[in-house]
Formats: sequence, C-alpha cells, structure tokens
Amino acid sequence: MTDQTKAASGGDDLEPVVIFDTTLRDGEQCPGASMTFEEKLEVAELLDDMGVDIIEAGFPIASEGDFESVSEIARRSKNAVIAGLSRAAFNDIDRCAEAVKHAARPRIHTFISTSPIHMKHKLQKEPDAVLEAVIASVSRARSHVADVEWSAEDGTRTEFDFLCRCVEGAITAGATTINIPDTVGYSTPEEYTDLFLRVREAVPNSDKAVFSVHCHDDLGMAEANSLAGLKGGARQIECTINGIGERAGNAALEEIVMAIKTRPDVLPYRTNIDSTMLTRASKLVAAVTSFPVQYNKAIVGRNAFAHESGIHQDGMLKHTQTYEIMTPESVGVKETSLVMGKHSGRNAFREKLKELGYELGDNAFQDAFKRFKDLADRKKHVYDEDIEALVDEEIGNADDRIKVVSMTVVAGTGGPQKATLTMDIDGRVETKEATGNGPVDAIFNAIRALVPHEATLALYDVHAVTEGTDAQAEVSIRLEQGGREVSGRGADPDTLVASARAYVHALNKLQARSERMHAQTG
Ligand code: KIV
Ligand code: ZN
Repeated sequence: MTDQTKAASGGDDLEPVVIFDTTLRDGEQCPGASMTFEEKLEVAELLDDMGVDIIEAGFPIASEGDFESVSEIARRSKNAVIAGLSRAAFNDIDRCAEAVKHAARPRIHTFISTSPIHMKHKLQKEPDAVLEAVIASVSRARSHVADVEWSAEDGTRTEFDFLCRCVEGAITAGATTINIPDTVGYSTPEEYTDLFLRVREAVPNSDKAVFSVHCHDDLGMAEANSLAGLKGGARQIECTINGIGERAGNAALEEIVMAIKTRPDVLPYRTNIDSTMLTRASKLVAAVTSFPVQYNKAIVGRNAFAHESGIHQDGMLKHTQTYEIMTPESVGVKETSLVMGKHSGRNAFREKLKELGYELGDNAFQDAFKRFKDLADRKKHVYDEDIEALVDEEIGNADDRIKVVSMTVVAGTGGPQKATLTMDIDGRVETKEATGNGPVDAIFNAIRALVPHEATLALYDVHAVTEGTDAQAEVSIRLEQGGREVSGRGADPDTLVASARAYVHALNKLQARSERMHAQTG
C-alpha cells in the first residue's frame, strides 16, 4: 500500500481507492464547458471538502488563465493533492511546477502518446524517441516534486511490449503513479482488467507505483471499464463530476463512488468521498458549465429517485428497498422542502444558505437577499432549488460589467415580437428596441444592438427549476466566437427575463476572455 492509498484507507478490509478528479482539466477541456476563474475556485473548494484525494486543477501551459487558476487552487488547497497537467516538454513541465508549487501536496502529471497511430500521425516520432521523452519528462518533473504521475495517452491502443517499456522507464525515472488511459473510449471491461494484470505482471518495477484508470465514454463503458481496472490492480480512478469531458465525456465520479459504496460484496474497495455532497457537486458543475444533467442520469439525475408508476409507488410505500438500492439521503438529495417565504428575514436566509453549503461575502449576500425577496414576492412557494439557482447565478454574475436593468417584451400571435431593453454597460445606461422572430429572438437582437458582437448562439436551453406554472425558469446559453465557446445562465420566474440574463452572462464572460487575451498579447 502506498501513502496515497493508505490515506484513503479506513483500516477495514476494504481496499482504499484514490479518487482523482479531473473536472477542472479534462472536464473543462470539452467544448462549451469553460469556467471562469471564480467558478473554478468554487468547484475546487467543494471537491476538496467532499474528500477528493487529488484535484487535477488545469493545464498551466495552456493559457495565463489556466496558470492562474491552478496556482490559486494550489494556494487554497486544504487536504487534496493538487495536480497540474503537462506535455512531455521541459517548458510545459516547468510551468506546471511553478503553478502547483503553492500546494501543500503538489503533483505534476505528464503525458505523451504511445499508440502507433498517435506516434506516427500526431507526434511524428519514432517509438525510441517517445521512450526517451518519457524518461526525460518524468525525470524533469521529479526534479521539481516528489509526486509525479505519468500517462500513456491512447494507452489501450498501444502495442503491449512498447507500453511495458514506457511504464518501466517512467517508474525508473521516478513516476509514482502510472496511468493507462482509454483515451478514445475503445476498451471493454474484460480487456481493461486484463491489460492492467498483464502490465503489472510484465513490468519488473510495477510494485513501485500506483496504477491508475482514466476512461472516456465513447461506447458508454467508462464507469464499467474504470471499475474493471480495479480488478486488474489499479488503485486510482480518474473521473469528473457529471461525467463531463472530451466528446462523450469521462467516467462520472458520482457513479464510481456510489457503485463502490453500494456493492462492497463485489467491489471490495472504499473511497474518501462524502457521498452526501454528490448532489451539490453535480448541481454546481452543471450550473457553472451550463451543461444540464440528463433527467435519467444515474445518481444525480432529477429522476434518479423518482417513482412514478403505480406499481413502483405501491412497492416503495410497503418497503423502500423494493425499488431503491441506495437512499436519496446518501447522495445528498433532501426532501424538497418549502423553506422560506416573503416574511423570512436576513438571519433565516443566512441560515438557509449555510444549510445549502454557501458562504457569501457581504455584498454578494445583500444582492442575493434582495433577489430572494423579489422572488418571494412573485412566487408562492420558494424551494431550496429556487435559492440554489438564484445564488449560483448571483455568484456567476458578481463581476459582470454588463447588466440588464429593465425589459419590456411584446409577444403573442400578432408578430413581429418586440423587445425594449435597458442595460447598464460599464456604468452607462442605454435603451434600445428590436424586433425578432419570437420574443427571445427580439430580446437577443436588442442585446446585440446595445452591445455589438460577433458571437453566434450555439445553444439555448430552458428548464424549470421546480414544479408548477410559477416555477423559475433556468436558461442556459452558449455563445461561440472564433472557435471557442462560453456559457451563461439566468434564472427567473419569467422565462424571457431569464433568457436575457443568461445571454448577458455569457456576453460578460466573452468580454472578460477577450480582454484577458489582449492583455496576454500585449
Ligand atoms: O484521455 C487522456 O488520455 C487524457 C490524458 C492526458 C491523461 O486525458
Ligand atoms: Zn482524458
């Protein structure tokens, strides 16, 4: 047992498994899921509090923004190891070392492709040159930190003997964790178990490192493959909240954790994760990325614990275990409670925020309280979900320079629909009117008239936060410009107001990004 796996151990006969979360790196890498600096800090703090052993905070060489967020997450880390990703190049590795150095427990994660197709077409390198790069990059990383992970990108499509030579070389050079990713989501569970068994058997120094799984979901087998890797001797799982990630995504952390917790009879492992925080983590990541969670998603989907059919409801009333293999409470689902009303005061609101896991600074608290009061005036029942939507939006918009001040929309069968919008743009208040093909189009045209920009709308999604016709609408938007996407969200009982807020939220992110890029290019 290594230090890392010992840390996850509780002393019982279940073997500890290290949970390595890559929501902020592989998750954030997928188109449209980019998060702001503040959002990344918030996610990292929650992951740390939840018991994630290793947080992969980003790819420091990728941009100044990535570097800064990895550094700040490292500075603020409490218990988790903070990892940064780097390619097999010295400047990448040195930059990564610089970013993670403030963590109490820093890790450098370096990788290179090892499969024939990647080496030939992507790297244009011969296998011997790749092996040399493995040894040089791991040695360089070890000159900075004691905790070094090496990954064989496209590991599952790598020729076996070459994979073993690279793994052996990486361990000799000082790698303490060896990751064999299923980069393209191609493997099957039996194959993946077998691969770990064979590599560990064939590599003479394999006992000197923890082996890790990293699975993508292209064929819908990411979680099954990850768990199969444990059977082959891996003891670290790389995963993301809600399974976000490149293409079809990564293995979902919540599914891995609950499978291990629910089936110790066939999966004799344990993790450090406080599973009651899974729902909160899922909601936060969905909110900051504007990637909605599918309703029937295992563990965190809104229907995961809903029992609609008569037969199921009857069974549930007789005994909950007839149709439930884990309790909603174990993943942090609370009975939807009628929490607050228009008579609730500041103290009650502060207490409720604490219960929901929020800690707001004074200004953010005052703004959130004002919005809560407005909402309570308009909506009969204010549920926990309403408050979460409102506060998540408030946190996301804290630094916005463009704000919606007021809005009037003419909608209906008559057309053309018309929107009159007043916005505060860097302290200057302006009003414009526009028509459109429907009220939402009219609003977006009015925003474009007030803040001219090139971005195009890549996604517009609406869902109700709770039930009933007075439910708040939560709108997610994605804007695309120059091949990159930003997301925005807005919540309000009026779907049109929520739409305007979501668009303006995305626009603010776009502006902040282009200012950052201008600053970087001087
Ligand atoms: O999928 C992959 O191979 C990766 C590596 C960089 C670990 O994300
Ligand atoms: Zn990956």
